[in-house]
Amino acid sequence: MKHIGLLCSGGDSPGMNCAIRAVVRSSLYHGRQVTGIKRGYAGLLRGEFQNMNLSSVGNIIQRGGTVLQTSRSPEFMKPEFRKKAVSIMKAQGIEGLVVIGGDGSFNGAMSLWTEHQFPVVGIPGTIDNDISNTEYTIGFDTAVQTAIEAVDRIRDTAHSHARTFLVEVMGRNSSSIALKVGVCTGAENVLLPHDKVNHQKIVDDIQRGIARGKESSIIIVAEGPTAGRSYEIQQVLKDMYHMDTHVVILGHIQRGGSPAANDRFIASQMGNMAVDALLAGKYPVVTVVQNGKVMLTDLANCTTKADHNFTEYQTLAQTLSI
Ligand code: F6P
Repeated sequence: MKHIGLLCSGGDSPGMNCAIRAVVRSSLYHGRQVTGIKRGYAGLLRGEFQNMNLSSVGNIIQRGGTVLQTSRSPEFMKPEFRKKAVSIMKAQGIEGLVVIGGDGSFNGAMSLWTEHQFPVVGIPGTIDNDISNTEYTIGFDTAVQTAIEAVDRIRDTAHSHARTFLVEVMGRNSSSIALKVGVCTGAENVLLPHDKVNHQKIVDDIQRGIARGKESSIIIVAEGPTAGRSYEIQQVLKDMYHMDTHVVILGHIQRGGSPAANDRFIASQMGNMAVDALLAGKYPVVTVVQNGKVMLTDLANCTTKADHNFTEYQTLAQTLSI
């Protein structure tokens, strides 16, 4: 394989640039050509190509987002567009593709392989940490750290005014961000995406805290399928329990910022391993973390969502905040 293509797809995550850098530098190290594809599968269908050289990835290791940009492409879900994508890549001389993204992006990659035998390797990049068969996805640690810093600031003002805050974190149906942030910020409660909210328990916990002299309460709310869920919870607490709470939705702040050490380190290893896999003819695969080690697994193992929903962390957060 002489020519590798590379794209990011789905929501961006801090550390994607480290993976891009590793793919480009590893390919060039082995004397291969690399083409960056702008704006994910949508850009691929428009032939948005950029030849990557050593300097194309200089000074990006510390930058959040993705220099190649990204997109969500509904078109790519249709076979005729995937067929078109393969002919566009072949016309460009691209012989193998590295896809940095989440499970949806991997489904697109899988179809390129099953329908056209086009060589693909996936690198898990999403703040949600929700891809099957990998313990880690690039961006998770940075997003968690960003959320922790935000909650710490909210705690300062919550304490000063003796208030309760509902802080909503990203992650869609994944509990990973909410649980880790909850434990690490001493939250009084963590509401998971599919939890049927027990308002009475929230109220009881808060009142018990007040009775023992607590000046503030933080409840971490996992956003679930639709962001803004915290406002409904706030309304019920007000209408039925006469309890005033404040809502903060952290939103896309969690997606930006300079990648943390873990994201840089894992992304660098994964980018390098992805190129080695393509050059060794090992595809379709994904670079994953299993038992704390970066390794390869079949792409078919990583095309579904996995919620690292360890409810024991929910109990831990509550136990430690009594
Ligand atoms: O999948 C990553 C993620 O940040 C989710 O946590 C969030 O629900 C979603 O993307 C937001 O997507 P968008 O940026 O397209 O609104």
